[in-house]
Formats: sequence, structure tokens, C-alpha cells
Amino acid sequence: MTDAYTQLVSNPFGGFVARNLGLPRPVELDRHRPGAPLIDGRVLVGAAPGGRCAAAVAAVLAEAGTAVDSRLHDEVRQALGAAAIDAGVWNPEAPGAQRWKGLVLDATGIGSSGELRELWSFFHPTIRRLERCGRLIVIGAEPGECPAPAAATAQRALEGFVRAAGKEVRNGSTAQLVRVAAGAEGRIGSTLRFLLSPRSAYVSGQLVRVGAGRDVPEVDRERPLRGKTALVTGASRGIGEAIANVLARDGADVVGLDVPALSGDLENVVEPIGGSAIAVDIAAADAPRRICDALAKRGGVDVVVHNAGVTRDKTLAAMDAERWEATIAINLTAAERINDELLARGGLLREDGRIVCVSSMSGIAGNAGQTNYSTSKAGVIGMVESMAPILAERAATINAVAPGFIETAMTAAMPLGPREAGRRMSSLAQGGLPVDVAEAIAWLAAPDSSGVNGNVVRVCGQSLIGA
Ligand SMILES: NC(=O)c1ccc[n+]([C@@H]2O[C@H](COP(=O)([O-])OP(=O)(O)OC[C@H]3O[C@@H](n4cnc5c(N)ncnc54)[C@H](O)[C@@H]3O)[C@@H](O)[C@H]2O)c1
Repeated sequence: MTDAYTQLVSNPFGGFVARNLGLPRPVELDRHRPGAPLIDGRVLVGAAPGGRCAAAVAAVLAEAGTAVDSRLHDEVRQALGAAAIDAGVWNPEAPGAQRWKGLVLDATGIGSSGELRELWSFFHPTIRRLERCGRLIVIGAEPGECPAPAAATAQRALEGFVRAAGKEVRNGSTAQLVRVAAGAEGRIGSTLRFLLSPRSAYVSGQLVRVGAGRDVPEVDRERPLRGKTALVTGASRGIGEAIANVLARDGADVVGLDVPALSGDLENVVEPIGGSAIAVDIAAADAPRRICDALAKRGGVDVVVHNAGVTRDKTLAAMDAERWEATIAINLTAAERINDELLARGGLLREDGRIVCVSSMSGIAGNAGQTNYSTSKAGVIGMVESMAPILAERAATINAVAPGFIETAMTAAMPLGPREAGRRMSSLAQGGLPVDVAEAIAWLAAPDSSGVNGNVVRVCGQSLIGA
């Protein structure tokens, strides 16, 4: 599904007109199809001297059966060989016609501003060779762990590179930075797979931090959530419906939740995926108890997705107390209270549990007419950041996704001007789909994402707002 403008500029005449008028020309994004390869093309892998993640990258690509190239004399060749990858060689001196679907640079070895030249050396001759809907990924180190200020400075600089590169790669491609803590190299698999694959179609310009987590279990790649129970709030429509469907596709037993007035719609979502329903207003005083009782009857829960949310827009001067209070109560306090009850009940959130919250770009950038909503969604980020260490002690994680402009009933109801601006003012020049948010949540919910904790990942096509 693409919007009418994207369809128009996808045909030769529309594309010609848009090009000549300097208008954005969004391309239809590749999205995940069951059974499709991890990435539909070759990947070029490089490493700055002293990098420590090439072996982990090689292991991911080898397992996926991806065709790989590396540069001449690149130390990464050794890692690829060890992973039994029969890699091609790419020689920038004799470049030929080679193109790639993915460009991955292990930049963990960059230790000074001078060494940032490694970014230029690797990407300058290759960035134009990135295919449609390609993936540019830089792997960096945690600046806070660097032994010297010069290394910390250079590692922090990677963020600027990736954000700018995301604005340069066109044709539906994306750019990301993955920061890997020392010793967490073996934890990057789930994140790398997500970012390389079409599942991350609408995620660009993001920083993902991968930490120690617990040992990564063997996971069935087609159904990583098999045997897991997942609660999804606000599941009767929109993004919540997509989350329920994607988590069920990944093997989860889904418990959908929505307000009693939408019970019929909720049944229509959970019934085809073999899930079950809880009809409750999450802002009700007894909601945490009722929800946790229902989960206890099912033997506990592995994944909790706090998706339910509302907007009650008015400028602050015109906003009545009811709008303020309802928005904070539903979007923020309800999730806090459910988490508290969940954690108070011992093992109700099972070992290796996952909490994933839905924040919003408005919580990062702020939005006129949404002081209540932006406050609540920034609060969600605060909740994730403050609870991450607590969850880590239980070998669990808490993260958030922050959607930008997503094509739902909510955004369809916006006036034309702001709606078109919301779509086009991003590197991908289009709105995302509910499934894009759902895929990001499925990645964070996966058992092998144990090293991803306390992150806030925007699903916004690298929106220029709040960038
Ligand atoms: N659509 C976007 O572009 C966008 C952008 C950023 C963030 N978000 C966030 O994504 C989430 C889903 O948004 P959506 O666009 O699908 O909205 P939506 O209105 O279509 O769906 C929200 C769901 O939450 C449910 N809900 C609301 N209050 C509830 C309550 N008190 N108890 C139980 N359920 C309740 C609703 O009944 C509805 O089914 C929300 O948190 C929203 O803030 C959406």
C-alpha cells in the first residue's frame, strides 16, 4: 500500500514531472515476505583497523547464506574465511560494475578524529553503488567505554556521519549506527538481521545500542516467538492490530487488549490468529490487577507491548483539564501501573521477558497542539530509560519505538496540508505503515534481542522533525 502521490511519481511521466519540479520522489519500499532471504542481494563488509565485530558480522551473514564481498587486503577477509564465507573481492582501483544491497563497516577500531577517514575510504567509492532499498550500517563502540577522549570523540562522531548519510542515500535506502558494548559482539545478530532486512523498511538514521544481555538462545528464525505469550494493548485496530498480527506470525500466542466498547473489533483481530482477548480500559483503577489476573491464568507473559494510546489535541491555552488528564492517564500512567503490578507479582513476567512501549516522534520533538500528548510520550521514554536497569537485573528488557507519520485512521483524519507535510518531510519522503512499527516491535521482543535494553528507536523514515 502506497499513498497516491508515491504511486503517481512511480510512473515514468509522474517521475519526470517530479524530477523537473524538484519534488520528492519516494520509492515503494521493500517489505518482508515470509520465506524471503535476509537481504536480497550482495553485502560489502569492511573494517577499520583494530575492529572487533567483523567475526560477528560474518557469522550473521554466513548463517543467512548472504553473498558477501570485502575489499582487497581488508582484515575482514580473515573473519569471513573463518565463518566459511567464500567472499568476493572488491578492488576500488578497478571498480567494475559491482553493486550492493548492503554496506557494513565495522568502525569499532576508530580511535581518533584522523581515523574517521576510514568512513570516507569505505563509503565514498561505494555509496553510489547501493541498490534500491539498500542498507548502510556502521558498527561503533560505546564512547563511554573508550579508553581515551580521542577515541570517545571519534566514536561519537559516527552518529553525525550516519544521520547525514541517511539523508544522502536515496531510492528507499537507509543508514544506521549500531553501538556495541565491549564483550557484546556476540549479541548483535538480531539487530543486524533486523537492520539489514526489509523488516526495517521505515527505520533510518537511528542509533541502536547493544549491550551484554544474556546468552543468545537458539532461535527458529521463521517463528522466534514460538511458545511465548504476548500482551498487546490497543490491539483492535491500527498499529496495535499490526503488532498482534506480526507477533502471531512470529509464533506468539497473542493476548489482545482494548476498551470494552471495541470488544467486537478486538475479537475480529485475535480470532483469525488464534489469540485471546481482554476487554478493559487500561486507565481504570482496577485495570492492572485485572490484566495481571488474566495473564496469571494463562501461566504468565513473555512480551508486553504498551501500544494503546490517545490524542486529545488542543493548544495549551485552550486545553481543559479532562484532555490533559485523560492523555497522561492512558498514554503514560496506565503503562507505569501495569508494569509495577507485573513486576510486583514475581515471575508473572517470565524469565527473559520483554516490555516494548510505543512512544512517538511528538515525545522527542514536541508538537504544537499536543502538549499533553508530547508530555506523555516523552514520559514513556523516561520510563524506558529509568526501568532498563531494573529489567536487566531480571534478565529482561524494556525498549520503546517512536513512530513518526504512520498511515492509520488517525493520520488519515488530519487536514491535507499537515498530512502531506508529515509524509514528505522525511528522508524516505512517505508515511510508514503500521507493519513497519510492528516489525520493529517484533525485533525488540525476540528472544535473541537480550542485549537491546533501554533503547528508543524511531520508526519515522528519518523524519526531519526532531532529527
Ligand atoms: N498513527 C501514528 O502516526 C502514530 C504516530 C506516533 C505514535 N503513535 C502511537 O501508536 C499507538 C497506536 O496508534 P494508532 O495510530 O494505531 O491509534 P488508534 O487510535 O488507531 O489505536 C489505538 C488503540 O488504543 C486503544 N485504546 C485507547 N485508549 C484505551 C484505553 N484506555 N484502554 C484500552 N485501550 C485503549 C483504542 O481503542 C485503539 O484500539 C498509540 O500509542 C499512538 O500514540 C501513532
